[in-house]
Amino acid sequence: MKRNILITGGAGFIGSHVVRLMVEKYPDYRIVNLDSLTYAGNLANLADIEQAPNYRFVRADICDLDAVRRTMREYAVDSVIHLAAESHVDRSIRDPFTFARTNVMGTLTLLQAARERWNGDWEGKRFYHISTDEVYGALALTRPEGEAPYGDELFCEATRYDPHSPYSASKASSDHFVRAYHDTYGMPTLITNCSNNYGPYQFPEKLIPLFINNIRHRKPLPVYGRGENVRDWLYVEDHARAIDLVFHEGRPGETYNIGGCNEWKNIDLVKLLIRTVDRLLGQPEGDSEELITFVADRAGHDLRYAIDASKLRRELGWTPSLQFEEGIERTVRWYLDNQDWMDRITSGDYMRYYEEMYGGR
Ligand code: NAD
Ligand code: TYD
Repeated sequence: MKRNILITGGAGFIGSHVVRLMVEKYPDYRIVNLDSLTYAGNLANLADIEQAPNYRFVRADICDLDAVRRTMREYAVDSVIHLAAESHVDRSIRDPFTFARTNVMGTLTLLQAARERWNGDWEGKRFYHISTDEVYGALALTRPEGEAPYGDELFCEATRYDPHSPYSASKASSDHFVRAYHDTYGMPTLITNCSNNYGPYQFPEKLIPLFINNIRHRKPLPVYGRGENVRDWLYVEDHARAIDLVFHEGRPGETYNIGGCNEWKNIDLVKLLIRTVDRLLGQPEGDSEELITFVADRAGHDLRYAIDASKLRRELGWTPSLQFEEGIERTVRWYLDNQDWMDRITSGDYMRYYEEMYGGR
């Protein structure tokens, strides 16, 4: 079957991996990447596939109903994979309104445009929302010492929503709107809630790329609190594979959790990163530990995230493919081998490029 898929947020971190996978794996599909190119959007993430005959880029804001309508009409869109969002918790603490606008109103705008476009004919249609495990709130850290898992509880699909940050509150709200469009209008929707991703092309405000870059430049590594918070890390290409699977095989109306079964305390992760970067830079392993700087904790900092992904494994046969140490090694190598990509971001050069190409941001 041929498809015309609108992928939103395809110039961002996860979106670029999803666009690449779809463009390369499905030459018969037309992949339309709609992205407004905020600070987090970077077309350099897609440089290797931008000339592909089945790929199109549309610069538009998901809150712009007319632009979304026009794009859906022009490309006869039959499926949406929605990743565009404001995604950084620390920014959401400083600027919650932008998060409500993009994540809540933007999602609602897409839902409404898709509903109008498909007009009750749901045959072959899909509206797939990419969400986060952060909507479930925080888990207790009942076994802080020793090996993971660091507690008995895991987030499962039935876990009650209990978001704490403006980011997770906005994602929770958008999840509810997606379900409302399924329950009210019968739209064939899908939602996945995934744990923390890492890998190439992640914007260097997030822990792993920020710290790799800071180690390289011998800058301080700001660890929030005592570094005791736990996250469940998944390699981004494993997430993209899961998205491909759920998009094609998931049951409409359902939610699936995606996670790495890979809990790490921040401080242990930072030390692993340091060892890996030091080794690959030819420095004594552990040399950069002196850069660790404990700083004030994030407000409302969720203690522990950990995902139960057994529904996705049982129903669709998905499991993560990469061991964490291998994924980290691959990731560190990528950032060290692609210093130009990083330097263009940290110098702000990539924004000037857009200004020249598109006339302002
Ligand atoms: P990102 O910040 O790297 O990319 C977001 C993309 O959305 C950028 O290209 C940006 O330009 C675009 N965008 C932002 N606002 C827009 C708007 N108003 N209109 C059009 N485009 C807009 O984010 P990411 O880390 O790749 O996350 C992608 C999605 O996955 C998000 O929905 C996020 O909530 C979800 N998610 C992320 C993680 C993670 O660990 N990064 C984990 C689970 C779920
Ligand atoms: P982050 O990458 O921002 O993802 P999220 O907040 O969505 O989990 O942060 C991962 C963890 O690392 C989180 O517990 C906050 C912590 N952290 C730091 O300790 N220092 C930092 O500079 C950043 C960005 C994050």
